[in-house]
Amino acid sequence: MGSAASSRDREAVTEHRLCALEDIPNPGSVGFDLTCDDRTVRLMAIRQGGAVYVYENSCPHRRLPLNFKPGQFLDAEKKYILCTNHIALFQIKDGLCVDGPCKGTSLYKFTANVRDNDVIVTL
Ligand code: FES
Repeated sequence: MGSAASSRDREAVTEHRLCALEDIPNPGSVGFDLTCDDRTVRLMAIRQGGAVYVYENSCPHRRLPLNFKPGQFLDAEKKYILCTNHIALFQIKDGLCVDGPCKGTSLYKFTANVRDNDVIVTL
């Protein structure tokens, strides 16, 4: 019984290579559709130097994708993640909304690491 639960746990958490670090502009962002276990998750990867932050591309306000243009998730100064639907701003490091209709809520963040120059996300 314990081993079955462990097996399910292993299946529920899987690492995926998103891209190479240099595939993301610095600073900048890229969008991905990642299919895992028969479901597709819309993701956005935000790069700041050697760090990459990965969030679900779903705004907590109306659950819409944040971007109108492919890969464009940042404001003009590249200091915040921008939801273009109703101009909400989110902190890059933790996804907290600091301005807009969903202020105080957060984007869904995935664990992401840069390993051997590859961006790895855990779903
Ligand atoms: S859907 Fe993002 S601010 Fe409204």
